[in-house]
Amino acid sequence: MATHSTFLNPQLNRYLVDHFSTEDDLQRDVLTRAGNADIPAISIAPEQTACLQLLLRAIGAVNVLEIGSLAGYSALTIARSLPAFGRLTCLEINPRYADFVRKVAAEAGLDSIISVVTGSALQALANLPDGEAPLDAVFIDADKQNYRKYFELVYPRIRKGGLIVGDNALAWGNVADRNTQYEPENVNALHDFNVLLATHPGILATLIPLGDGMVVGLKTE
Ligand code: DHB
Ligand code: MG
Repeated sequence: MATHSTFLNPQLNRYLVDHFSTEDDLQRDVLTRAGNADIPAISIAPEQTACLQLLLRAIGAVNVLEIGSLAGYSALTIARSLPAFGRLTCLEINPRYADFVRKVAAEAGLDSIISVVTGSALQALANLPDGEAPLDAVFIDADKQNYRKYFELVYPRIRKGGLIVGDNALAWGNVADRNTQYEPENVNALHDFNVLLATHPGILATLIPLGDGMVVGLKTE
């Protein structure tokens, strides 16, 4: 009787990737080219792709915001789960990365869905005009110490039944260690964000331990 989790080992994780990844040749190529372009190899893991897509499809997502796009690997994942009239707005602070994402989106034939806003996400979010279409989902994968601020700025814009997803919810394996020596400011910020979602009265949350973990909150009111 399983009353506790079956912990993943490398073989089981390989099994997940083999059977539950939607990563394709273009995404593999994007990672190679990102490496050649000195873009850090910190994209989401392939085992997160199908999960993200399933969540977005399950809520019928059309209008999605991504905060922190890096090389566009997760943007491709998200955009492919949206209908042809869907919108994915990517906020990326690094202009070189932002251009890379635009190029990748065009190559994937997704440039009518993906638009990239270069610059500080805090500034972009503060300047969002009122009356914009409500967001179905927000994926946060940017600077960890601002997750809470991003949440506060986007929460009023998310529709009831919408999702907020934060990457790196396991904080590189350190999230449960309150005395961590590894990037304590980032680890503690990720922990605080997990607790924020877990205890928020308007959110039903869980932590999905795929990749470095995704904390997922469903806006319930
Ligand atoms: C790292 C990984 C991530 O997914 C991220 O968003 C930021 C940093 C890392 O491994 O350092
Ligand atoms: Mg991440």
